Amino acid sequence: MPKLKIVTFGCQANELDSARIAGVLAREGYTLTEDEAEADLVILNGCSIREKAEQKLFSRLGTLQTLKGENPGLRLGVAGCLAQREGSELLRRFPYLDFVVGNGEHLAEIPQLLRITPTRPAATRPPVGLFPEDADVHRDSRFRAWVGIMEGCDNFCSFCVVPFTRGRERSRRPEDILREVLLLRERGYREVTLLGQTVNSYGKKLDPPVTFAGLLRRIDAAVGGDVRVRFTTSFPMDVTAELAEAMAELPSVCEHIHLPVQSGSTRTLDRMRRTYTREEYLGKVTLLRSAVADLAVTTDIIVGFPGETDDDFAETLSLMERVGFDGCFAFKFSARSRTPAAEMPDQIPGEVSAERLKRVLELQAHLSLERNRRAIGRAAEVLVDRELDRRDSGLGAGRTRQNKIVHFRGGEVVEGGLASVEITDATPYHLKGVLIASS
Ligand code: 5AD
Ligand code: SF4
Repeated sequence: MPKLKIVTFGCQANELDSARIAGVLAREGYTLTEDEAEADLVILNGCSIREKAEQKLFSRLGTLQTLKGENPGLRLGVAGCLAQREGSELLRRFPYLDFVVGNGEHLAEIPQLLRITPTRPAATRPPVGLFPEDADVHRDSRFRAWVGIMEGCDNFCSFCVVPFTRGRERSRRPEDILREVLLLRERGYREVTLLGQTVNSYGKKLDPPVTFAGLLRRIDAAVGGDVRVRFTTSFPMDVTAELAEAMAELPSVCEHIHLPVQSGSTRTLDRMRRTYTREEYLGKVTLLRSAVADLAVTTDIIVGFPGETDDDFAETLSLMERVGFDGCFAFKFSARSRTPAAEMPDQIPGEVSAERLKRVLELQAHLSLERNRRAIGRAAEVLVDRELDRRDSGLGAGRTRQNKIVHFRGGEVVEGGLASVEITDATPYHLKGVLIASS
Protein backbone atom coordinates (compact mmCIF):
# COMPACT_ATOMS: atom_id res chain seq x y z
CA MET A 1 0.00 0.00 0.00
CA PRO A 2 1.33 3.47 -0.83
CA LYS A 3 2.39 5.59 2.12
CA LEU A 4 1.50 9.22 2.75
CA LYS A 5 3.20 11.76 4.97
CA ILE A 6 1.41 15.05 5.67
CA VAL A 7 3.28 17.92 7.29
CA THR A 8 1.00 20.62 8.71
CA PHE A 9 2.03 24.19 9.41
CA GLY A 10 -0.57 26.47 10.96
CA CYS A 11 -3.77 26.73 12.89
CA GLN A 12 -6.62 24.32 13.70
CA ALA A 13 -8.16 25.00 10.29
CA ASN A 14 -4.97 23.71 8.67
CA GLU A 15 -5.03 20.65 10.93
CA LEU A 16 -8.61 19.92 9.90
CA ASP A 17 -7.59 20.30 6.25
CA SER A 18 -4.80 17.76 6.79
CA ALA A 19 -7.33 15.34 8.30
CA ARG A 20 -9.46 15.89 5.18
CA ILE A 21 -6.51 15.21 2.86
CA ALA A 22 -5.70 12.01 4.79
CA GLY A 23 -9.36 10.93 4.54
CA VAL A 24 -9.55 11.54 0.80
CA LEU A 25 -6.32 9.65 0.16
CA ALA A 26 -7.23 6.74 2.49
CA ARG A 27 -9.96 5.93 -0.04
CA GLU A 28 -7.22 5.72 -2.65
CA GLY A 29 -5.37 3.14 -0.54
CA TYR A 30 -2.83 5.45 1.14
CA THR A 31 -1.85 4.77 4.75
CA LEU A 32 -0.26 7.45 6.91
CA THR A 33 3.38 7.35 7.93
CA GLU A 34 5.41 9.60 10.19
CA ASP A 35 8.62 8.73 8.35
CA GLU A 36 9.34 10.82 5.27
CA ALA A 37 11.97 8.33 4.12
CA GLU A 38 9.39 5.58 3.58
CA ALA A 39 6.70 7.82 2.05
CA ASP A 40 5.53 7.58 -1.58
CA LEU A 41 3.77 10.91 -1.31
CA VAL A 42 4.58 13.91 0.90
CA ILE A 43 2.12 16.81 1.17
CA LEU A 44 3.05 20.03 2.92
CA ASN A 45 -0.09 21.77 4.10
CA GLY A 46 0.73 25.32 4.99
CA CYS A 47 -0.52 28.53 6.40
CA SER A 48 0.25 31.93 4.94
CA ILE A 49 -1.14 34.24 7.58
CA ARG A 50 2.29 35.55 8.59
CA GLU A 51 5.57 35.52 6.70
CA LYS A 52 7.20 33.32 9.35
CA ALA A 53 4.64 30.56 8.74
CA GLU A 54 5.48 30.58 5.03
CA GLN A 55 9.22 30.50 5.68
CA LYS A 56 8.84 27.30 7.69
CA LEU A 57 7.19 25.55 4.77
CA PHE A 58 9.77 26.82 2.29
CA SER A 59 12.66 25.55 4.37
CA ARG A 60 10.99 22.13 4.67
CA LEU A 61 10.63 22.07 0.89
CA GLY A 62 14.38 22.52 0.65
CA THR A 63 15.09 19.37 2.68
CA LEU A 64 12.54 17.41 0.66
CA GLN A 65 14.38 18.27 -2.53
CA THR A 66 17.34 16.26 -1.20
CA LEU A 67 15.05 13.34 -0.34
CA LYS A 68 13.55 13.42 -3.80
CA GLY A 69 17.04 13.31 -5.28
CA GLU A 70 17.59 10.03 -3.42
CA ASN A 71 14.11 8.66 -4.17
CA PRO A 72 12.92 9.82 -7.61
CA GLY A 73 9.60 7.92 -7.22
CA LEU A 74 8.59 10.22 -4.35
CA ARG A 75 5.78 12.63 -5.20
CA LEU A 76 5.62 15.99 -3.55
CA GLY A 77 2.72 18.43 -3.23
CA VAL A 78 1.89 21.69 -1.47
CA ALA A 79 -1.67 22.25 -0.23
CA GLY A 80 -3.66 24.83 1.71
CA CYS A 81 -3.53 28.59 2.15
CA LEU A 82 0.02 29.05 0.94
CA ALA A 83 -0.69 27.04 -2.21
CA GLN A 84 -3.91 28.97 -2.75
CA ARG A 85 -2.05 32.27 -2.55
CA GLU A 86 0.96 31.42 -4.65
CA GLY A 87 -0.68 29.07 -7.18
CA SER A 88 1.46 27.89 -10.07
CA GLU A 89 4.16 30.37 -9.07
CA LEU A 90 5.19 27.66 -6.59
CA LEU A 91 5.66 25.14 -9.42
CA ARG A 92 7.94 27.64 -11.18
CA ARG A 93 9.98 28.36 -8.07
CA PHE A 94 10.29 24.71 -7.05
CA PRO A 95 10.76 22.60 -10.19
CA TYR A 96 10.76 19.38 -8.17
CA LEU A 97 7.18 19.93 -6.90
CA ASP A 98 4.61 17.59 -8.49
CA PHE A 99 1.40 19.48 -7.75
CA VAL A 100 -0.14 22.41 -5.92
CA VAL A 101 -3.64 22.36 -4.46
CA GLY A 102 -5.55 25.09 -2.64
CA ASN A 103 -8.35 25.13 -0.08
CA GLY A 104 -12.01 24.16 0.30
CA GLU A 105 -13.36 21.90 -2.43
CA HIS A 106 -9.86 21.61 -3.98
CA LEU A 107 -8.69 19.24 -1.23
CA ALA A 108 -10.97 16.54 -2.62
CA GLU A 109 -9.37 16.94 -6.06
CA ILE A 110 -6.00 15.52 -4.97
CA PRO A 111 -6.68 11.97 -6.28
CA GLN A 112 -7.44 13.36 -9.76
CA LEU A 113 -4.31 15.52 -9.68
CA LEU A 114 -2.20 12.49 -8.80
CA ARG A 115 -3.49 10.73 -11.91
CA ILE A 116 -2.31 13.56 -14.19
CA THR A 117 1.16 12.74 -15.51
CA PRO A 118 3.53 14.02 -16.61
CA THR A 119 2.21 17.61 -16.30
CA ARG A 120 2.35 19.36 -12.97
CA PRO A 121 -1.17 20.50 -12.09
CA ALA A 122 -2.21 23.44 -9.91
CA ALA A 123 -5.79 23.42 -8.56
CA THR A 124 -5.92 26.87 -7.07
CA ARG A 125 -8.92 28.72 -8.49
CA PRO A 126 -10.44 30.84 -5.71
CA PRO A 127 -12.38 28.35 -3.58
CA VAL A 128 -16.15 28.87 -3.66
CA GLY A 129 -17.45 25.55 -2.35
CA LEU A 130 -16.99 23.33 0.67
CA PHE A 131 -15.20 20.06 1.30
CA PRO A 132 -17.69 17.50 -0.08
CA GLU A 133 -20.10 15.99 2.46
CA ASP A 134 -19.55 12.47 1.17
CA ALA A 135 -15.75 12.59 1.57
CA ASP A 136 -14.09 11.12 4.66
CA VAL A 137 -12.14 12.96 7.33
CA HIS A 138 -9.34 11.00 8.97
CA ARG A 139 -9.34 11.41 12.79
CA ASP A 140 -6.15 11.06 14.83
CA SER A 141 -7.88 11.15 18.17
CA ARG A 142 -10.52 8.65 19.30
CA PHE A 143 -12.28 11.09 21.59
CA ARG A 144 -12.03 14.66 20.33
CA ALA A 145 -12.59 15.99 16.84
CA TRP A 146 -12.66 19.18 14.81
CA VAL A 147 -15.89 19.79 12.91
CA GLY A 148 -15.74 22.44 10.18
CA ILE A 149 -18.99 24.42 10.08
CA MET A 150 -18.05 27.21 7.70
CA GLU A 151 -15.25 28.32 5.40
CA GLY A 152 -13.83 31.68 4.43
CA CYS A 153 -14.39 35.19 5.72
CA ASP A 154 -16.09 38.37 4.49
CA ASN A 155 -14.52 40.76 6.96
CA PHE A 156 -11.43 41.89 5.05
CA CYS A 157 -9.48 43.15 8.04
CA SER A 158 -6.76 45.32 6.53
CA PHE A 159 -3.88 43.04 7.62
CA CYS A 160 -5.34 39.63 6.78
CA VAL A 161 -4.96 37.26 3.83
CA VAL A 162 -7.73 34.85 4.85
CA PRO A 163 -10.48 36.30 2.61
CA PHE A 164 -8.05 35.76 -0.31
CA THR A 165 -6.81 32.29 0.68
CA ARG A 166 -10.05 30.77 1.96
CA GLY A 167 -12.49 32.81 -0.08
CA ARG A 168 -15.83 34.32 0.89
CA GLU A 169 -17.81 33.09 3.88
CA ARG A 170 -19.98 30.03 3.27
CA SER A 171 -21.65 27.71 5.78
CA ARG A 172 -22.41 24.02 5.85
CA ARG A 173 -26.05 23.06 6.22
CA PRO A 174 -27.05 22.44 9.85
CA GLU A 175 -28.36 18.95 8.97
CA ASP A 176 -24.94 17.96 7.62
CA ILE A 177 -23.19 19.27 10.74
CA LEU A 178 -25.66 17.46 13.00
CA ARG A 179 -25.18 14.22 11.11
CA GLU A 180 -21.39 14.46 11.54
CA VAL A 181 -21.63 15.30 15.24
CA LEU A 182 -24.06 12.43 15.89
CA LEU A 183 -21.80 10.00 14.04
CA LEU A 184 -18.88 11.14 16.16
CA ARG A 185 -20.92 10.61 19.31
CA GLU A 186 -21.85 7.11 18.16
CA ARG A 187 -18.18 6.34 17.69
CA GLY A 188 -17.45 7.39 21.26
CA TYR A 189 -16.16 10.94 20.74
CA ARG A 190 -16.48 13.08 23.87
CA GLU A 191 -15.62 16.53 22.54
CA VAL A 192 -16.17 18.38 19.28
CA THR A 193 -14.75 21.77 18.36
CA LEU A 194 -16.78 23.63 15.76
CA LEU A 195 -14.37 25.40 13.44
CA GLY A 196 -14.54 28.42 11.21
CA GLN A 197 -12.72 31.73 10.68
CA THR A 198 -15.66 33.55 12.29
CA VAL A 199 -17.84 30.72 13.63
CA ASN A 200 -20.35 32.99 15.28
CA SER A 201 -21.32 34.62 12.00
CA TYR A 202 -22.35 31.12 10.86
CA GLY A 203 -25.44 30.60 8.74
CA LYS A 204 -26.30 34.16 7.66
CA LYS A 205 -26.34 33.23 3.99
CA LEU A 206 -28.17 29.90 4.35
CA ASP A 207 -31.73 29.63 3.10
CA PRO A 208 -33.44 29.87 5.54
CA PRO A 209 -30.75 31.62 7.63
CA VAL A 210 -29.63 29.90 10.84
CA THR A 211 -27.90 31.71 13.70
CA PHE A 212 -24.83 30.25 15.38
CA ALA A 213 -26.72 30.16 18.68
CA GLY A 214 -29.51 28.26 16.88
CA LEU A 215 -26.95 25.75 15.63
CA LEU A 216 -25.57 25.31 19.17
CA ARG A 217 -29.09 24.65 20.43
CA ARG A 218 -29.71 22.00 17.81
CA ILE A 219 -26.38 20.31 18.52
CA ASP A 220 -26.95 20.40 22.27
CA ALA A 221 -30.42 18.89 21.89
CA ALA A 222 -28.98 16.10 19.74
CA VAL A 223 -25.94 15.15 21.85
CA GLY A 224 -27.41 15.73 25.32
CA GLY A 225 -24.72 15.68 27.96
CA ASP A 226 -22.58 13.07 26.15
CA VAL A 227 -20.33 15.39 24.20
CA ARG A 228 -18.61 18.62 25.10
CA VAL A 229 -19.01 21.33 22.48
CA ARG A 230 -16.38 23.99 21.83
CA PHE A 231 -16.05 26.50 19.02
CA THR A 232 -13.42 28.78 17.54
CA THR A 233 -12.77 31.48 16.32
CA SER A 234 -15.40 34.07 17.24
CA PHE A 235 -15.64 37.58 15.82
CA PRO A 236 -16.49 40.30 18.38
CA MET A 237 -19.20 42.07 16.36
CA ASP A 238 -21.07 38.77 15.92
CA VAL A 239 -21.36 38.19 19.67
CA THR A 240 -25.09 38.53 20.42
CA ALA A 241 -27.30 38.28 23.49
CA GLU A 242 -28.71 35.12 21.90
CA LEU A 243 -25.21 33.57 21.84
CA ALA A 244 -24.55 34.57 25.46
CA GLU A 245 -27.87 32.97 26.49
CA ALA A 246 -27.17 29.79 24.55
CA MET A 247 -23.73 29.48 26.13
CA ALA A 248 -25.23 30.00 29.56
CA GLU A 249 -28.08 27.52 29.12
CA LEU A 250 -26.71 24.65 27.07
CA PRO A 251 -24.99 22.03 29.25
CA SER A 252 -22.82 20.65 26.46
CA VAL A 253 -21.34 24.04 25.48
CA CYS A 254 -18.05 24.74 27.28
CA GLU A 255 -17.44 27.98 29.16
CA HIS A 256 -14.72 29.36 26.92
CA ILE A 257 -14.63 31.85 24.07
CA HIS A 258 -11.66 32.77 21.90
CA LEU A 259 -12.41 36.37 20.94
CA PRO A 260 -9.54 38.07 19.09
CA VAL A 261 -9.35 41.78 19.92
CA GLN A 262 -6.11 42.53 17.94
CA SER A 263 -5.66 45.97 19.57
CA GLY A 264 -6.97 47.97 22.51
CA SER A 265 -6.82 51.28 20.65
CA THR A 266 -9.93 52.41 18.76
CA ARG A 267 -7.72 54.39 16.37
CA THR A 268 -5.75 51.25 15.49
CA LEU A 269 -8.87 49.07 15.35
CA ASP A 270 -10.33 51.51 12.86
CA ARG A 271 -7.26 51.26 10.63
CA MET A 272 -7.32 47.49 11.01
CA ARG A 273 -10.95 47.66 9.74
CA ARG A 274 -12.12 45.53 12.65
CA THR A 275 -15.53 47.32 12.67
CA TYR A 276 -15.66 47.76 16.47
CA THR A 277 -14.27 50.20 19.02
CA ARG A 278 -12.44 49.43 22.25
CA GLU A 279 -15.67 50.15 24.16
CA GLU A 280 -17.76 47.90 21.94
CA TYR A 281 -15.32 45.03 22.48
CA LEU A 282 -15.45 45.56 26.24
CA GLY A 283 -19.24 45.62 26.00
CA LYS A 284 -19.26 42.21 24.27
CA VAL A 285 -17.07 40.71 27.01
CA THR A 286 -19.39 42.14 29.68
CA LEU A 287 -22.42 40.72 27.88
CA LEU A 288 -20.86 37.26 27.83
CA ARG A 289 -19.48 37.34 31.34
CA SER A 290 -22.70 38.54 32.88
CA ALA A 291 -24.54 35.59 31.31
CA VAL A 292 -22.01 32.76 31.51
CA ALA A 293 -20.65 31.88 34.95
CA ASP A 294 -16.93 31.14 35.08
CA LEU A 295 -16.31 32.00 31.43
CA ALA A 296 -12.71 31.89 30.15
CA VAL A 297 -11.90 34.54 27.55
CA THR A 298 -8.81 34.23 25.37
CA THR A 299 -7.68 36.51 22.57
CA ASP A 300 -5.26 37.32 19.73
CA ILE A 301 -3.23 40.53 19.70
CA ILE A 302 -1.15 42.07 16.93
CA VAL A 303 1.65 44.42 18.00
CA GLY A 304 3.44 46.85 15.72
CA PHE A 305 0.55 47.45 13.33
CA PRO A 306 1.58 50.31 10.97
CA GLY A 307 1.29 53.65 12.73
CA GLU A 308 0.83 52.10 16.21
CA THR A 309 2.07 54.75 18.65
CA ASP A 310 3.27 54.23 22.22
CA ASP A 311 -0.12 55.53 23.34
CA ASP A 312 -1.99 53.07 21.12
CA PHE A 313 0.12 50.25 22.49
CA ALA A 314 -0.49 51.40 26.07
CA GLU A 315 -4.22 51.08 25.34
CA THR A 316 -3.70 47.46 24.29
CA LEU A 317 -1.99 46.72 27.61
CA SER A 318 -4.71 48.52 29.54
CA LEU A 319 -7.45 46.62 27.69
CA MET A 320 -5.72 43.33 28.52
CA GLU A 321 -5.83 44.31 32.20
CA ARG A 322 -9.43 45.52 32.01
CA VAL A 323 -10.60 42.22 30.53
CA GLY A 324 -8.20 39.98 32.44
CA PHE A 325 -7.75 37.52 29.60
CA ASP A 326 -7.23 33.87 30.47
CA GLY A 327 -4.82 33.49 27.58
CA CYS A 328 -3.54 35.34 24.55
CA PHE A 329 -1.74 34.59 21.30
CA ALA A 330 0.35 37.61 20.41
CA PHE A 331 1.95 38.30 17.03
CA LYS A 332 4.21 40.90 15.50
CA PHE A 333 2.50 42.52 12.53
CA SER A 334 3.58 40.84 9.31
CA ALA A 335 3.08 42.78 6.07
CA ARG A 336 1.29 40.51 3.57
CA SER A 337 1.14 41.44 -0.09
CA ARG A 338 -2.36 42.31 -1.43
CA THR A 339 -3.49 43.51 1.99
CA PRO A 340 -4.01 47.27 2.52
CA ALA A 341 -1.97 47.31 5.75
CA ALA A 342 1.15 46.26 3.85
CA GLU A 343 0.99 49.56 1.93
CA MET A 344 0.30 51.80 4.93
CA PRO A 345 2.85 54.45 5.90
CA ASP A 346 4.67 54.31 9.24
CA GLN A 347 5.59 50.64 9.26
CA ILE A 348 6.98 49.88 12.73
CA PRO A 349 10.64 48.85 13.08
CA GLY A 350 11.21 45.22 14.05
CA GLU A 351 12.92 46.08 17.36
CA VAL A 352 9.93 48.14 18.48
CA SER A 353 7.50 45.31 17.64
CA ALA A 354 9.75 42.80 19.39
CA GLU A 355 9.82 44.91 22.54
CA ARG A 356 6.02 45.34 22.48
CA LEU A 357 5.54 41.62 21.95
CA LYS A 358 7.68 40.91 24.98
CA ARG A 359 5.62 43.28 27.11
CA VAL A 360 2.34 41.69 25.99
CA LEU A 361 3.63 38.22 26.81
CA GLU A 362 4.90 39.32 30.23
CA LEU A 363 1.62 40.96 31.11
CA GLN A 364 -0.33 37.93 29.88
CA ALA A 365 1.73 35.53 32.03
CA HIS A 366 0.78 37.65 35.03
CA LEU A 367 -2.92 37.81 34.05
CA SER A 368 -3.09 34.07 33.27
CA LEU A 369 -1.66 33.26 36.68
CA GLU A 370 -4.21 35.54 38.33
CA ARG A 371 -7.08 33.91 36.42
CA ASN A 372 -5.80 30.38 36.97
CA ARG A 373 -5.48 30.97 40.72
CA ARG A 374 -9.22 31.59 40.90
CA ALA A 375 -9.75 27.90 40.20
CA ILE A 376 -7.82 26.82 43.32
CA GLY A 377 -10.03 25.04 45.86
CA ARG A 378 -12.72 24.27 43.28
CA ALA A 379 -13.59 21.04 41.51
CA ALA A 380 -13.07 21.00 37.74
CA GLU A 381 -14.52 18.66 35.10
CA VAL A 382 -11.51 17.37 33.16
CA LEU A 383 -11.49 15.46 29.86
CA VAL A 384 -8.52 13.13 30.22
CA ASP A 385 -6.00 13.55 27.41
CA ARG A 386 -2.75 11.60 27.35
CA GLU A 387 -1.18 13.96 24.82
CA LEU A 388 -0.96 16.52 27.59
CA ASP A 389 0.88 14.15 29.96
CA ARG A 390 4.39 15.07 30.93
CA ARG A 391 6.37 12.00 30.06
CA ASP A 392 7.05 9.69 32.99
CA SER A 393 5.56 12.18 35.43
CA GLY A 394 3.05 9.59 36.68
CA LEU A 395 0.43 12.35 36.63
CA GLY A 396 -2.85 12.35 34.77
CA ALA A 397 -3.62 15.24 32.42
CA GLY A 398 -6.50 16.79 30.59
CA ARG A 399 -8.44 19.98 29.94
CA THR A 400 -11.12 21.73 31.94
CA ARG A 401 -14.29 23.11 30.37
CA GLN A 402 -12.48 26.47 30.32
CA ASN A 403 -9.85 24.75 28.12
CA LYS A 404 -7.15 24.95 30.77
CA ILE A 405 -4.58 22.19 31.02
CA VAL A 406 -4.60 20.30 34.33
CA HIS A 407 -2.00 17.89 35.69
CA PHE A 408 -3.33 15.80 38.53
CA ARG A 409 -2.37 12.95 40.82
CA GLY A 410 -4.46 10.49 42.75
CA GLY A 411 -5.22 7.48 40.58
CA GLU A 412 -5.65 5.77 37.26
CA VAL A 413 -7.87 7.41 34.65
CA VAL A 414 -9.01 6.40 31.18
CA GLU A 415 -8.09 8.47 28.15
CA GLY A 416 -11.18 10.18 26.79
CA GLY A 417 -12.97 9.78 30.14
CA LEU A 418 -14.19 12.58 32.37
CA ALA A 419 -12.54 13.14 35.74
CA SER A 420 -13.50 15.40 38.59
CA VAL A 421 -10.35 17.07 39.88
CA GLU A 422 -9.87 19.37 42.86
CA ILE A 423 -7.57 22.20 41.83
CA THR A 424 -4.79 22.73 44.35
CA ASP A 425 -2.28 24.99 42.60
CA ALA A 426 -1.77 27.09 39.47
CA THR A 427 0.97 28.42 37.20
CA PRO A 428 0.45 30.83 34.26
CA TYR A 429 0.33 27.84 31.91
CA HIS A 430 -1.57 25.12 33.72
CA LEU A 431 -3.46 23.99 36.81
CA LYS A 432 -2.47 21.29 39.27
CA GLY A 433 -4.88 19.09 41.19
CA VAL A 434 -5.95 15.87 42.85
CA LEU A 435 -8.41 13.37 41.39
CA ILE A 436 -11.75 13.24 43.19
CA ALA A 437 -13.59 10.80 40.90
CA SER A 438 -13.48 9.54 37.33
CA SER A 439 -15.95 8.02 34.87
N1 5AD B 1 0.34 39.87 10.91
C1 5AD B 1 0.34 39.43 12.19
N2 5AD B 1 -0.64 38.69 12.71
C2 5AD B 1 -1.69 38.39 11.92
N3 5AD B 1 -2.80 37.69 12.16
C3 5AD B 1 -3.55 37.66 11.03
N4 5AD B 1 -2.92 38.33 10.05
C4 5AD B 1 -1.76 38.81 10.58
C5 5AD B 1 -0.69 39.60 10.07
N5 5AD B 1 -0.69 40.04 8.82
C6 5AD B 1 -3.13 37.13 13.46
C7 5AD B 1 -4.41 37.72 14.03
C8 5AD B 1 -5.40 36.59 13.88
C9 5AD B 1 -4.50 35.39 14.04
C10 5AD B 1 -5.07 34.10 13.54
O1 5AD B 1 -3.35 35.72 13.33
O2 5AD B 1 -4.19 38.01 15.41
O3 5AD B 1 -6.43 36.62 14.84
FE1 SF4 C 1 -8.85 37.62 8.87
FE2 SF4 C 1 -10.26 37.02 11.08
FE3 SF4 C 1 -10.39 39.51 9.97
FE4 SF4 C 1 -11.52 37.38 8.72
S1 SF4 C 1 -12.11 38.29 10.75
S2 SF4 C 1 -10.27 38.99 7.75
S3 SF4 C 1 -10.07 35.76 9.23
S4 SF4 C 1 -8.58 38.52 10.94
